[in-house]
Amino acid sequence: MKIGLFYGSTTCYTEIIAEKIQAAMSGEYHVELFNVKTDPLCKINDYQILIFGISTWNYGELQEDWGDIWASLSTIDVKNKIIGLYGLGDQVAYSDWFVDAMGMLHDELLPLSPMFVGYWSTQGYQFISSKALIDEGRLFVGLAIDEDSQYEQTDQRIKQWVQQISAEINAICSQ
Ligand SMILES: Cc1cc2nc3c(=O)[nH]c(=O)nc-3n(C[C@H](O)[C@H](O)[C@H](O)COP(=O)(O)O)c2cc1C
Repeated sequence: MKIGLFYGSTTCYTEIIAEKIQAAMSGEYHVELFNVKTDPLCKINDYQILIFGISTWNYGELQEDWGDIWASLSTIDVKNKIIGLYGLGDQVAYSDWFVDAMGMLHDELLPLSPMFVGYWSTQGYQFISSKALIDEGRLFVGLAIDEDSQYEQTDQRIKQWVQQISAEINAICSQ
């Protein structure tokens, strides 16, 4: 099965995580990577399963390339498509806005009726507030990665998240 992974990345961290997710999923899925800065958004139409990666900048702002295409997002057709999100942030230096952009992306896509996979426990993170929370703060809307202050946990988190979304995708596809 193929997956389209679309990311925006200012200093390459979100891009590196995209490559790690691609490698971690390679046994079961063919994950193709797209940088939203340079690749057209209409490529989304080629995939039934999508992963979107976004970092947060400047006190709760969208990563700039996602910001540039933000207005077009409401026009993409993701109804009933499977979407997993991951977000990069820094829970120590930007504790009031931790991975906010991932929450903003989730909220923007929600009215388009996709099927989200990969909601992720907030256990093990320490931050003051985040726009990426659901279930009374128990879950992030996707995988939260902190390469600034918890980089040593990244590989394990990716491994676990990939197992989780693979199981969720299989469950949806076998319905
Ligand atoms: C100037 C600056 C502002 C940032 N603002 C936030 C923020 O508001 N919230 C957050 O969680 N992380 C914030 N970060 C951390 C970045 O999201 C983090 O370093 C991320 O890994 C960058 O990924 P990228 O290189 O793929 O864009 C900020 C980092 C910098 C340097």
